[in-house]
Amino acid sequence: MILVTGGAGFIGSNFVHDWLAQSDEGVVNLDALTYAGNLANLVSLKGDARHVFVQGDIADSALVEGLMSTYRPRAVIHFAAESHVDRSIHGPAAFIRTNIEGTFCLLQAARAHWSGLGEAERKAFRFHHVSTDEVYGSLGPGDAPFAEDHPYAPNSPYSASKAASDHLVRAWHHTYGLPVVTTNCSNNYGPWHFPEKLIPLLIVNALAGKPLPIYGDGLNVRDWLYVRDHCSAIRTVLARGRVGEVYNVGGWNEKTNLDIVHEVCDLLDDLRPDPAGPRRRLIHFVKDRPGHDRRYAIDARKIERELGWRPAETFTSGLRKTVEWFLEHGEWVVDVQSGAYRDWITAQYGGPGGGE
Ligand code: NAD
Ligand code: TYD
Repeated sequence: MILVTGGAGFIGSNFVHDWLAQSDEGVVNLDALTYAGNLANLVSLKGDARHVFVQGDIADSALVEGLMSTYRPRAVIHFAAESHVDRSIHGPAAFIRTNIEGTFCLLQAARAHWSGLGEAERKAFRFHHVSTDEVYGSLGPGDAPFAEDHPYAPNSPYSASKAASDHLVRAWHHTYGLPVVTTNCSNNYGPWHFPEKLIPLLIVNALAGKPLPIYGDGLNVRDWLYVRDHCSAIRTVLARGRVGEVYNVGGWNEKTNLDIVHEVCDLLDDLRPDPAGPRRRLIHFVKDRPGHDRRYAIDARKIERELGWRPAETFTSGLRKTVEWFLEHGEWVVDVQSGAYRDWITAQYGGPGGGE
């Protein structure tokens, strides 16, 4: 089996579906079900004996050690994290606890489990750490994209906590020999994306005729990758990546936030016209995020050169799939927009609709 952490969140749940669609190897899915974890993402796996869901905290050593000895995973794929930059600005403590202490606890349990395996199993074991391009900090307009040797310069509590976790993973390999691989990926989008993040927030607000909040001047740049492409990159690195190595993963899709909001509006106008007029009318510039990184860009040549991975989707094809998924899953959207979600929207944007 493999042990997946955070498999009820956005990328983790996509990964679990993707994995079980390609393999009969079972998944133990450990997730604390924070506000971002949602069993509705996994509902189609109900009754599938290959998927074992365990609600629990990665920082609970006894629980994690128990799972290692019961299921004896041949790999750990570590997604669980607090993942939203804006939340990290309002409340960094949870980020320190889960992203740093939680990763530490998981590494210790993985190391104890791995140490007790036979020689062949020890060699084959992998701890795959799922990380972000945000650890590298912010680029200027003419700077080269982030390669794997780019210096770390995290700027937000979120990225600093992820950077710390990357360093722990690296150290557990160098000091104890734990066979680790790390992937640092750019911004994902796709099905089951929690609508506090830019693309799903724009889709759900636009469909509801609510304001589309754009921070600052809207010219911050991100690289965007369709989530299923991230899943295929992780499968590739897990299978063939060199132990102890880092692979940067990206979509070769640098876009400003204004590009994104325009594309989302135009696509929705095409797929579901609004009698009140074009959705671009809903764009609303709001106060900038403190310390907002200007530009991220990924140099994904290493994973292509060494492992032959490239994204399958363009931004146009991936965004269309994503918007169609949201149009078909209105019930899921209503379900995630719980009381806790509404409290966040009010705290962050000053009003229940996402406007000011
Ligand atoms: P998410 O917030 O949607 O999901 C995180 C999941 O982790 C949730 O299901 C949550 O319940 C679970 N979790 C949180 N704290 C936990 C704890 N203490 N114990 C167990 N489970 C816990 O996040 P995501 O967007 O799916 O990101 C997954 C991983 O990928 C993260 O490590 C993130 O840093 C990384 N990443 C995300 C992106 C992106 O664009 N979303 C890009 C690059 C890397
Ligand atoms: P986000 O989805 O939060 O990802 P990250 O900050 O981790 O890259 O934000 C993507 C970009 O969109 C980022 O530049 C911030 C911006 N943004 C807005 O302009 N408005 C919003 O309401 C949100 C959530 C993000």
